[in-house]
Amino acid sequence: MTTKANKPLYIGLAGFGTVGGGLARLLVENADLVRRRAGRDIIVKKVLVRNLSKGRAVPLPETAELTDKPEVLLNDPEIDVLVELMGGIDAPRALINEALDRGKHIVTANKALLAEEGGELFRKAAEKNRILRYEASVAGAIPIVESLKESFTGNRISSLVGILNGTSNYILSEMTTNGLDFDVALRQAQELGYAEADPTLDIDGHDAAHKLTLLIRLAYGVHYPYTAMPVRGIRGLSAMDIRLAREFGYRIKLIAQVRERNENGVARLEAGVFPALVHHTLLLARVGGVYNAVRVDGNAAGSLFFHGRGAGDLPTAGAVLADLVAVARDEAPNNTGFAATELPRASIMPPEDWRSRYYVRLMVRDAPGVLRDVAGCMADEGVSLAQVIQKSDEGKGVPFVFMTHETTEHAMRAALQHTVDAGMLLEPAVYFRVLGGE
Ligand code: NAP
Ligand code: HSE
Repeated sequence: MTTKANKPLYIGLAGFGTVGGGLARLLVENADLVRRRAGRDIIVKKVLVRNLSKGRAVPLPETAELTDKPEVLLNDPEIDVLVELMGGIDAPRALINEALDRGKHIVTANKALLAEEGGELFRKAAEKNRILRYEASVAGAIPIVESLKESFTGNRISSLVGILNGTSNYILSEMTTNGLDFDVALRQAQELGYAEADPTLDIDGHDAAHKLTLLIRLAYGVHYPYTAMPVRGIRGLSAMDIRLAREFGYRIKLIAQVRERNENGVARLEAGVFPALVHHTLLLARVGGVYNAVRVDGNAAGSLFFHGRGAGDLPTAGAVLADLVAVARDEAPNNTGFAATELPRASIMPPEDWRSRYYVRLMVRDAPGVLRDVAGCMADEGVSLAQVIQKSDEGKGVPFVFMTHETTEHAMRAALQHTVDAGMLLEPAVYFRVLGGE
């Protein structure tokens, strides 16, 4: 006899690409384990795609009907959960809204949607008392969403720093270790299924920023508007800086960071995505290939370091499946990890006030007095040099490279502007923040 307790959980799967196909595989390979953990079967009833005649790398589940019409999935009253693995913003937003209206729970890997329009969707899910889970949306296989939502609730989090984009980390690792060109490494990441449909989201830092926005909501219980976040990616990063960074004992990584800064009793969040020099002794510097990592610092736990595959079919699908098992167990909705349905807006520290050490590379003429003149421009803004290297002439002038002591972004930019105004630079200055190695 079928009772509510052993009735299968029926899912409507929207998207049958890299992650959707991975989920179909795992549902077969791990079917017995899922039954034991969830106490019932999880069955794919409908699969929504764009192109019905496209060849599929993974066979469609035997139980499923393929469709290109969202209504087919939405109108099926037996479907308990919409699993959204399409990507994009407009189509998934409409689908999720409709599914919530019809009483379905939601599992998604769509960080872009949740970062840019999450407020509305979380509000609606709370109003409808539906589950909205999204473990796969941040750092692939790393269970950081549930950790922040459940396991860190006894901690005040002072900072969270991560490598959150597998594609960028793969490109940087291939450039550093195998000397690959940027474009070749990007093509490989696309072939391996790591990159977004629009890979500019990966290389320009926006995918990492989407993920950081979600982590901030989970860690601090605030809404940090995605558009307020300073974001800089790895496009155009030169092999010369990767090499020079190594000479100083650092690796260049695309970093996503949030820190709570307390000044005069006022706490503000300093959050952004940027390429940075990471000292080789930090675990973050050793995160290679498609791997992601997150270091969380809590006032009770101290430092915790998570490391794992950040993208790819099975690593990501495993996180989706964990969310489905939670729904199958009839867990109560706990969508943001905070009790309030309306989260307050974050109090944000302006990027120009951030403090950091910097790596700077200036292409200058090899002439007497250059070191003095550059140091003068820095000193005018109170920027103090810690270490300097000058390389031999490479035909386009000499790279004059230095590390600074801690200063503000505002002072760093103003000092560099002085070098421009004085006509010292043969190319635009390159500068990156520096983590570790003090
Ligand atoms: P993908 O390989 O491009 O697959 C997308 C699937 O969605 C395809 O089956 C496509 O149909 C379908 N689709 C797209 N737009 C549609 C629409 N408007 N109507 C109906 N079907 C539509 O994408 P993916 O890499 O699996 O990524 C899916 C989601 O997971 C994205 O939100 C992504 O950011 C996220 N994610 C991906 C990874 C990863 O490693 N790939 C990791 C974490 C999170 P057709 O097959 O007919 O074109
Ligand atoms: N494009 C993303 C990445 C997929 O490269 O990290 C995982 O979210």
